Amino acid sequence: MHIELYEKIWMWIGASIIVLFLGSILVGAMTAAIQPPSHIETVDPTALSKHPEFAAGSVRKDPDGRVVVSVVATMFAFGPDPIEVPANQPVTFRVTSGDVLHGFEVVGTNANAMAIPGYVSQFTITFPRPGEYVVACHEYCGLMHHAMVGKLIVK
Ligand code: CUA
Repeated sequence: MHIELYEKIWMWIGASIIVLFLGSILVGAMTAAIQPPSHIETVDPTALSKHPEFAAGSVRKDPDGRVVVSVVATMFAFGPDPIEVPANQPVTFRVTSGDVLHGFEVVGTNANAMAIPGYVSQFTITFPRPGEYVVACHEYCGLMHHAMVGKLIVK
């Protein structure tokens, strides 16, 4: 089969771009902890007010010493607010929603998850720098979406 030179060049360019994109996903996953969530846990979004963990959104220390923050996002606030966590220590966030789809992003860090009604999004992150951070909702959730902000205090 005869393939024109220009066609060969463009096929190589196309294949190289695919390899480049796949490589950038791999590098991001391995060096910057940019990974799709793999935690699947369901929760009844209509019964969060009676849920043993999410009823009073909290920051707690588990018996094994890890810090766990349970967050409920509802129109148009996060609970608890403010959230206080220690610096230089892994913090596990468990985020869910009581109504519609929200986002949970700690601005300036790569703490970023979706708050999905019916599911618990979980991720663990360490904050090296103490200070006050803005927690923003990054999924359009209604008329006051732009005002849905919280505060994270790293001590
Ligand atoms: Cu909650 Cu946008």
